[in-house]
Amino acid sequence: MSAEIIDGKKIAQTMRAQLKDRINQLEDITPGLAVILIGDNQASKTYVSMKQKACEDLGIYSKLVKLPDTVKESELLDIIQELNEDQLIHGILVQLPLPAHISETSVIEAIYPSKDVDGFHPINIGRLQAGGEAFYPCTPNGIMKMLEFQEIDPAGKHAVVVGRSNIVGKPMGQLLLGKSATVTYCHSKTADLKTHTAQADILIAAAGIRNLITADHIKSGAVVIDVGMNRDEEGKLCGDVDYDQCRLKASAITPVPGGVGPMTITMLLFNTVESAERFSR
Ligand code: GUN
Repeated sequence: MSAEIIDGKKIAQTMRAQLKDRINQLEDITPGLAVILIGDNQASKTYVSMKQKACEDLGIYSKLVKLPDTVKESELLDIIQELNEDQLIHGILVQLPLPAHISETSVIEAIYPSKDVDGFHPINIGRLQAGGEAFYPCTPNGIMKMLEFQEIDPAGKHAVVVGRSNIVGKPMGQLLLGKSATVTYCHSKTADLKTHTAQADILIAAAGIRNLITADHIKSGAVVIDVGMNRDEEGKLCGDVDYDQCRLKASAITPVPGGVGPMTITMLLFNTVESAERFSR
């Protein structure tokens, strides 16, 4: 068997075109996203400029707030509060990681849940579990959209999530459960990982370990979603899944790059447009 390759780039393009239509239908309101970038981390700078460019391409107003890594937590909280009250801003994102002297929890909790387009605020996490109008974290929600586009219904399937981060693993399992999958979480302390992953109808690899998942780890015909963003010895981007092996056994698989990656920023745009629509109601 050779797996169907799930083309994240194409799905992202389709979704962005739909978002453009939604933006055009908004009367007297331009969706606005504020991104706060602290310090000089190269990866963070790259992510932030990709987010800004994506906003620009779609007609979303984007405001960049650059701060030195010496900024005091209280100053940062004041800036967040100003953005909370700013009528032109519908989404606020503080790029992580933060300098060690700033509390991530305090910063995330300072953002109004109605503008928390990352979906990291405890209110949004709670609503993801309990239901209600919420923002869902971008990467797992992007994966749910990918499954929907591929017409893969999680209901009744055994989904195995490898990874338990707040940003991907934990919300991923919740979203799959919300669509009636039977969910197993695995992580770095899981004994005999293979026993669990080999039972998965849908396998989500989000551990951040290159080639963690080999053909031996998967069931024939499984759907394999690779969230990994690792580098090989030559600096080439690669995932958590041994793609060349697994694509011969899976029924569908995401490549790296060109799989989950393009969906993450698309879902940030999606949440920002949703937020603007809610504010315009
Ligand atoms: N750093 C790495 N990924 C993310 C993300 O999804 N959101 C924010 N705010 N920071 C990040």
